[in-house]
Amino acid sequence: MTAVGIDAVEIWTGNLKLDLPGTFAPQKGEDPEKYTKGLGLNASSFPDSYEDIVTMAANAAHRLMERKGLEPDDIGRIDVATESAFDNSKPVSTYVAGCLEQVYDGDFHHANKGERKFACIAGTQSLDDAYNWIRAGRNRGRAALVIATDTALYARGDAGEATQGAGAVAMLIDEDPNLVELSTEQGYGSADETDFLKPNQQFPSVDGKRSVQVYLARMREALEDFESVAGDVHPDDVVFAPFHTPFPGMVRKAAMLAYRHVTRDTAVEDELAEEIGRQPRAEAFDDDEAFREAVREYMDGLKRTERYQEWYAETIDPTLTISREVGNWYTGSVHVARASALKYALEEGRDLVGETILVGSYGSGAQAEIHAETIREGWEEEIGALNVDEQLEDRYEMSWEDYEEIHDVHNHEMDVDVQEFTTPESEFVFDGWGRMGERKYRYVE
Ligand code: CAA
Repeated sequence: MTAVGIDAVEIWTGNLKLDLPGTFAPQKGEDPEKYTKGLGLNASSFPDSYEDIVTMAANAAHRLMERKGLEPDDIGRIDVATESAFDNSKPVSTYVAGCLEQVYDGDFHHANKGERKFACIAGTQSLDDAYNWIRAGRNRGRAALVIATDTALYARGDAGEATQGAGAVAMLIDEDPNLVELSTEQGYGSADETDFLKPNQQFPSVDGKRSVQVYLARMREALEDFESVAGDVHPDDVVFAPFHTPFPGMVRKAAMLAYRHVTRDTAVEDELAEEIGRQPRAEAFDDDEAFREAVREYMDGLKRTERYQEWYAETIDPTLTISREVGNWYTGSVHVARASALKYALEEGRDLVGETILVGSYGSGAQAEIHAETIREGWEEEIGALNVDEQLEDRYEMSWEDYEEIHDVHNHEMDVDVQEFTTPESEFVFDGWGRMGERKYRYVE
């Protein structure tokens, strides 16, 4: 069977930066360590006044097409995943195609376009759609462009304000891919949940603490479902495990839960038993609370063991490097985590061809998906082409007053006009409104 997967990836960050421990925490009267140590965040990316989900998506896609030497005729499908859409009918992918048509001779009239919605997991669902489309033989030799783009903003004063972010990830899905091959096996954990939603409103209604529990519960189900088709996962068989990262502290919790699960009834559990005892089993307890307490104690011990700390440092921590500097990108976040880990591996000179990564995606509402990916021969070239460090470095750092203004600019209920903080260069920008309320864009040389 021909391999199908991600051939290339590009990341586009919002052009502004908010320092969370330095600028945000003091305004909230909070300890900066809540951000650096608790949530695991140093900064958030924000869109400047001329940026939105379309410009970030189009800029990521343009960079990808230029680097790969692609023309519109090479792309048979454009899917955009977002939970920040501003139109209930016209998909963002049509705007993105319109932008790209300004800079290419050909057009995308032949390309199937859509928009995927299921909170943050929609990016991975779009990846799956593209995979299925190619596997079904409907692609006529063309590749799919999948773009995850979001402005993850919360209402001022909401607890989620600490975990905001904005950016886009563009991925080219193709046969015989350079970066990673996707596994056919997938596992799901999906339930009707009310943890985070936007009932016809721009900013989310969030039950923050519950959303953390729902994330963990659905992820556990997805892992069990994945193992039921792919066989047991062993921690030593996986080089990296990128998870959906609303903030790195969330992944710290998910990783510990996953490690406990995949080491149960293995030699690793036996070895750890000498130090912290065996994992508590529900059947050994008369009441649920006693079992939970025993699990909490086990987890406390586990996180202090050298074995767990080493696994976490090698397998999980590298996935969080970019996220720490950009915050939550919703649909793009798990794809940023994958890129972050591979970038780390490239910098470390690791040989990863043929190795497995385990990808844990999540969307509130709620659904988790686990699938595996096999790293391909061209991964170093693809990851080496990313310019994410320069992009992060070039962001304009906002003062508190700047932040208040920019939040208002992107608030759909407010009509605020502020001067941009950065000067656009070689990128698409928002250019005002059309006669039917549509958004206009232009390319700035
Ligand atoms: N030093 C070290 N750590 C500190 C600290 C300090 N001075 N002060 C606080 N902390 C720790 C806390 O102990 C806590 O860590 P633990 O959970 O491990 O105990 C962490 O920092 C956060 O502190 P709080 O819980 O007090 O923070 P909060 O009340 O502001 O709420 C939140 C945090 C619930 C995540 C909130 O930011 C929120 O609602 N975020 C949006 C929802 C979200 O991201 N949910 C994640 C799962 S849902 C999902 O993944 C989908 C999605 O993308 C939205």
